[in-house]
Amino acid sequence: MQIAMIGAGYVGLVSGACFSEFGIDVKCVDTDSGKIARLLKGEIPIFEPGLDELIERNIAEGRLEFTTDLKQAVSAADAVFIAVGTPSRRGDGFADLSYVHAAAREIAVAMTGYTVVVTKSTVPVGTGAEIERIIRDTRPDADFDVVSNPEFLREGAAIGDFMRPDRVVIGTESERARKTMQRIYRPLYLMETPIVHTSVESAELTKYAANAFLAAKITFINEIADLCEKVGGDVHDVARGIGLDGRIGRKFLHAGPGYGGSCFPKDTLALARTAQQAGAPLRIVESVIEINAERKRNMAQRVIAQCGGTVEGKTIAVLGLTFKPNTDDMRDAPSLDIVSALQAAGARVRVYDPQGMEEAKKLMDGADYCEGAYEAMDGADALVIVTEWNAFRALDLARVKQTMKTPIMVDLRNIYDPEEVRAAGFDYTCIGRPNLALEA
Ligand code: UDX
Ligand code: UDX
Repeated sequence: MQIAMIGAGYVGLVSGACFSEFGIDVKCVDTDSGKIARLLKGEIPIFEPGLDELIERNIAEGRLEFTTDLKQAVSAADAVFIAVGTPSRRGDGFADLSYVHAAAREIAVAMTGYTVVVTKSTVPVGTGAEIERIIRDTRPDADFDVVSNPEFLREGAAIGDFMRPDRVVIGTESERARKTMQRIYRPLYLMETPIVHTSVESAELTKYAANAFLAAKITFINEIADLCEKVGGDVHDVARGIGLDGRIGRKFLHAGPGYGGSCFPKDTLALARTAQQAGAPLRIVESVIEINAERKRNMAQRVIAQCGGTVEGKTIAVLGLTFKPNTDDMRDAPSLDIVSALQAAGARVRVYDPQGMEEAKKLMDGADYCEGAYEAMDGADALVIVTEWNAFRALDLARVKQTMKTPIMVDLRNIYDPEEVRAAGFDYTCIGRPNLALEA
């Protein structure tokens, strides 16, 4: 069994490395020759726990290769996975499929013998059919099937998610393609992982529906948190109280500054656009998008309120920049909105993130990039925790207080115990939990 993985980005790299761990020969292809050169030298371009060892081991055992030569990789492959990016198209929010279509044309020219062409990238419903048309038009003699096999990988936990998934979705009407997919996912069949066989269209929709549902779940608890603040409830208790109901489930009920990342924002938008175009608008998803965008912008207001109504000329320390911990990914991170709003309100912002500094520098101008958490809070008028890295969960509160100019803490991830922090002399505020300081 041989696989070509087109696109050695986040999803392509993780999927390629994991398939090689299943014992399959995998060639990862990318148009970015700099990226391939780095990979060949053993440098991993993204931060993902466990990925470096996995890649190193499978290269050493001869199952994993990196190349810019698409033709050679595809011609030898039984299955070709498309894992190129599908960013939001500028202006209208539809997914930009130009890379996917370009890949399909190149695959068509290069393939030899029966080949299964699989979309791993998140693509709008109808893309599988479009890929089939493109290949057929380019190579009328081609022997192939198109399969939709969406990924459900969480950054930071992607390898575990790949190796022990809740389910695998395989969308195809072709029995022959299904057999190839079964061989590829053999280790997961043996583990009795639920495998959901669907049409191409249903598989494409499943990915978007899953992400939209999770984004809605987060947005729901965020709004409940706002209500808790107004009427005196504790969102942790409410989340636990509802989450123990098996129909609801405990996960994805952490209130915070709004969701970010490479998937939820772009996928909710693309799904809403597809649904509008199809004449079946998803009003819940449309509201989720709007509420979340507004929430990220409004988070800076909490900081400003906590600082007595103005941050003009003040120094604010921000800990955690990536959209969530254990990644270096800054795409659509809430920190981007928060830092720029604080700067616009006249604050000087000192920032620190354990892994995201390089990516942040590309997207966030005018911040003071610091070497560590305590350096960031040196002389600060307020401290804002935006991303819940473990390194920020047990700060030495006495030292924090000594380091800062005024002990104001805004904890947007609820990682501290309000009583403990207030007892340490802080003016502390968080999300959706009783605000004793204000009540007193
Ligand atoms: C992926 C999926 O593609 C996306 O649909 C999903 O929703 C999230 O994850 P990701 O892996 O994060 O995207 O994208 P990125 O890290 O940008 O990687 C894409 C890679 O494809 C890049 O390395 C890029 O150089 C490569 N590429 C792009 C090609 O090799 N050929 C192209 O024509 C275009
Ligand atoms: C997500 C999906 O989980 C994954 O299945 C899909 O394939 C890609 O998109 P990812 O973007 O890596 O994965 O991150 P995830 O852990 O889902 O978090 C997304 C965002 O939601 C983060 O900004 C996170 O902080 C936020 N979030 C998550 C909350 O605010 N509260 C929660 O309870 C959970």
